[in-house]
Amino acid sequence: MVVLLALAACAPEGGDSGATCNAADTYSWENWGEGFFVTYCNACHAASSPNRFGAPVAARFDTLDEVRDQRDLIEALVIEAQTMPVGGGVRPEDLDGLEVFLACGL
Ligand code: HEC
Repeated sequence: MVVLLALAACAPEGGDSGATCNAADTYSWENWGEGFFVTYCNACHAASSPNRFGAPVAARFDTLDEVRDQRDLIEALVIEAQTMPVGGGVRPEDLDGLEVFLACGL
C-alpha cells in the first residue's frame, strides 16, 4: 500500500517521472484500464449502454481520451468518495490499481 501511494504520487500529470512509474508499466489502457471500466462502469456509462440508469451522457469511459478528460472526477468519486460505481463492489486491489493507472498509466 505504501508503495502504491508513493507511485500514485509520483506523476500526477503523467509527466516526467517515468522512471518512478516504471513499476506501473503494466497498468496501460490496453491491458488494464479498458477492462476496469468495462467491468465496473460501462454497464451504465458506455455510449452504447441500453440503460444508463440516469448516468450523464457526458460521463463515458469507452476510450482512453474520455477517461483522461474525466480523470479528476473519476479519482474523486471512485477512490476518494467511493460513490461510484453505484452500489460499490470494487475489489480493493482494483481500487489500488486504479490509483496507479490514473497516476502513471494515462
Ligand atoms: C449502476 C450504474 C452505474 C455504474 C455501474 C457506474 N455509474 Fe457512474 N453514474 C451513474 C449514475 C446514475 C450517475 C448520475 C448520478 C450521480 O452522479 O450520482 C453517474 C455519474 C457518474 C459521473 C458523473 C458525476 C458528475 O458529477 O458529473 C462519473 C464521473 C461517474 N459516474 C463515474 C463512474 C465510474 C468511474 C464508474 C466505474 C468505476 C461508474 N461511474 C459506475 C451510474 C453508474
